[in-house]
Amino acid sequence: MGIKSLVNIDDYDKDDIYRIIKSASLFKQNPNRNLLQGKVCATLFFEPSTRTRLSFETAVNRLRGRIIGFSDAATSSSTKGESLKDTIMMVSNYADLIIMRHHLEGSARYASEISPIPVINAGDGSNQHPTQTMLDLFTIYETQGTLEDLTITIVGDLKYGRAVHSLIQGLSHFRPRFNFVAPEELHIPDKYKTFCENHQIPYKEFTEFSPEAINSADILYMTRVQKERFTDLMEYEKVKNIYILHNRMLDDSKENLKVLHPLPRVKEINQDVDANPKAYYFQQAKNGMYTRQAIICDLMKIGG
Ligand code: CP
Repeated sequence: MGIKSLVNIDDYDKDDIYRIIKSASLFKQNPNRNLLQGKVCATLFFEPSTRTRLSFETAVNRLRGRIIGFSDAATSSSTKGESLKDTIMMVSNYADLIIMRHHLEGSARYASEISPIPVINAGDGSNQHPTQTMLDLFTIYETQGTLEDLTITIVGDLKYGRAVHSLIQGLSHFRPRFNFVAPEELHIPDKYKTFCENHQIPYKEFTEFSPEAINSADILYMTRVQKERFTDLMEYEKVKNIYILHNRMLDDSKENLKVLHPLPRVKEINQDVDANPKAYYFQQAKNGMYTRQAIICDLMKIGG
């Protein structure tokens, strides 16, 4: 294991992914340990978050590490004009690890290149969300017993959804089949279609949320339309509720199907789905804590 920072999901190869999954499953059995005693982790969230920040902070707290940072860039000196470079250099004076979310694509890569301490990308614009993908892969493995040869139907905002972009790359090691369900305005970017073609990954595109897309799936991965990425809110209004999953739509789905969502949800999963045993998004979010414990210890080369 040679990586210093986790910026893109393709920083992990197949063996790395299985190693993190194995470690996360051990943290799930025993999340409270002394592994980070004396270590300080900085959470720099230039964009809002509930799950990612709180699960990272809980992960550190349960391992007896300490947390510094900010959850709102308005409380940092970036509002006075301090550059990202200077912010990273300052924080690396104080902490042993930086966990950063930023609205600019490529910001995490830049931070990792200038930082003397490891950087974890907690989401950079519409680009990547690699720790989300690792918790998604952990959850898929937990529910399906394998990552291999699965049909994954991904629904919603495939243009701006960074969790979607990372997931496609993360699953590419495991012979997936994809169904991409999106309106024309939010279809999967050409670069991810080319990626699938280059990796011999079959995919189908749908503009309708059809029974075929649901009933052929092992995993139904719902996503929110990313309002914050639209420059024209009229365009957002046109597509914001385009697909809504109702419980009755799962009647003919596969026995092993699990419905996942990186969350937050708005209206794309009706609340009548929540009680269906196939709904697994809240357990998925909980798995984020164990997966992030595994990632932090792996990067800091601390045995789990
Ligand atoms: N899934 C996810 O990134 O959620 P938050 O935006 O709440 O962190």
